[in-house]
Amino acid sequence: MTRESDDRTDGSTDTRADGEAFSSAQGDPRRFLSALLKMGIRQYVSGRQEEGNLHRLRARTAACTGCELCRTRRSVVFGEGSEKARLVFVGEAPGEEEDLQGRPFVGRAGKLLDQMIERVGLTREEVFICNVLKCRPPQNRDPQPHEVEACKGYLLAQLDLIRPEIICTLGRHAYNTLLDVDERITRIRGRLTAYKGITLLPTYHPSFLLRNQEAIKDAYSDMEKLKGLLKREGV
Ligand code: URA
Repeated sequence: MTRESDDRTDGSTDTRADGEAFSSAQGDPRRFLSALLKMGIRQYVSGRQEEGNLHRLRARTAACTGCELCRTRRSVVFGEGSEKARLVFVGEAPGEEEDLQGRPFVGRAGKLLDQMIERVGLTREEVFICNVLKCRPPQNRDPQPHEVEACKGYLLAQLDLIRPEIICTLGRHAYNTLLDVDERITRIRGRLTAYKGITLLPTYHPSFLLRNQEAIKDAYSDMEKLKGLLKREGV
């Protein structure tokens, strides 16, 4: 069974008997496939499996002690949004408010990110938002290289599981981490590139935009670009 289309079956059935057969077979791959075939379903996309994997990854991340940030954090901020997101935003690290609430981009920078997402024509629930670091660095200092090394695997696994069409990196840390380079954001902002075959657009970090309001127009033009790309790549 391949992921060739977005047709998903969630187990809803025409008849109660088929539905029961479907449900009871889910733990057993052979019986499960045979129940699907009996129901006339020849193509099945295991959305649940991906969700389950992301759920498991979240649980693993929540228990992480890979660097010393685990001693000062109040929350592990895994990220949130749609597991089937076509667009993923990657920020730097949780700040104070994010650490308190356990959610990404919920402070002042988050309000601006919400407006940026709106410019793309999407809602927060339709995209996925996460960070390079899942734990807050004290005093919101820059992520240290060993912290990025310790945490990077979680981000890469998130992207592998979600498999978005487009990644928008916010600020230099997300860009440099994914592409393993050391670029300045002013040099690469707005320039399309790719990460593992996924279109990647780097833009300014919303916190930078709060301090440099004249740059907001560039960020908004990047959002327009994302909107166009999503339309073009639309499935
Ligand atoms: N800045 C980030 O990079 N991420 C957040 O979640 C909040 C602020």
